[in-house]
Amino acid sequence: MPPLDLGVLISGRGSNLQAILDAIADGRLDARVRLVLSNRPGVEGLARAERAGVPTRVIAHRDFADRDSFDAAVVDALREAGATWVVLAGFMRLLTTTFLDAFPHRVVNIHPSLLPSFPGVDAQQQALDHGVRITGCTVHLVDAGTDTGPILAQAAVPVLDGDDHDTLAARILVQEHALLVRALSWIAEGRLQVTPPAAPGGRARAAIAGVDTALGLAGVDTARGLAQGGRAPEQVGEGA
Ligand code: GRF
Repeated sequence: MPPLDLGVLISGRGSNLQAILDAIADGRLDARVRLVLSNRPGVEGLARAERAGVPTRVIAHRDFADRDSFDAAVVDALREAGATWVVLAGFMRLLTTTFLDAFPHRVVNIHPSLLPSFPGVDAQQQALDHGVRITGCTVHLVDAGTDTGPILAQAAVPVLDGDDHDTLAARILVQEHALLVRALSWIAEGRLQVTPPAAPGGRARAAIAGVDTALGLAGVDTARGLAQGGRAPEQVGEGA
């Protein structure tokens, strides 16, 4: 299969973008980043892309009268750059059907919770406020809802005593980086299967052929919690 031609949309720090760039550089992901596009100027993710020699664009949403015209400009930029898959890596804008119809079932998002729990902004604080004991991250295809699209893969992360927003977010982020790269590599291998809704208004489903995409309690301290059952949790990624 040819490498995935990625357009990566960011709004800030770009650590998930960095995970993609690193995975490509060391051969774990068969892809090319054709464009990194930010809706905000001057963000750290743009500098990361420049350091990797990847083309960048800034298209500021504030310069557009409405969401559709912003989305149309982003679609044009991605197409011009040769991107055929889109990754939302900390991109803080909702996409319209103008965008989604241009890349059908080809827009991938990383979200820092086990969806459908805690969609939208600050999923880590939502998890803390709710008092859940296990949260995590989800890679899913994007549809017109907020974090509602077909789920590709999830990794679980425990909420530990004494966690605050920053400690929990940092632990989830390690798993985001690993999960996003894994999901993209499964797509690059041609394993993604999307099943349309069985009935109008139903849910599309996504599956990765031949792979168990539930990554359990990654990063948990093996001396604690569910790991005491005697089975070592699957470790995901370098930091796990
Ligand atoms: C990540 O937690 C991601 O899941 C969420 O926004 C954050 C972006 O972080 N959508 P970064 O810009 O990739 O470092």
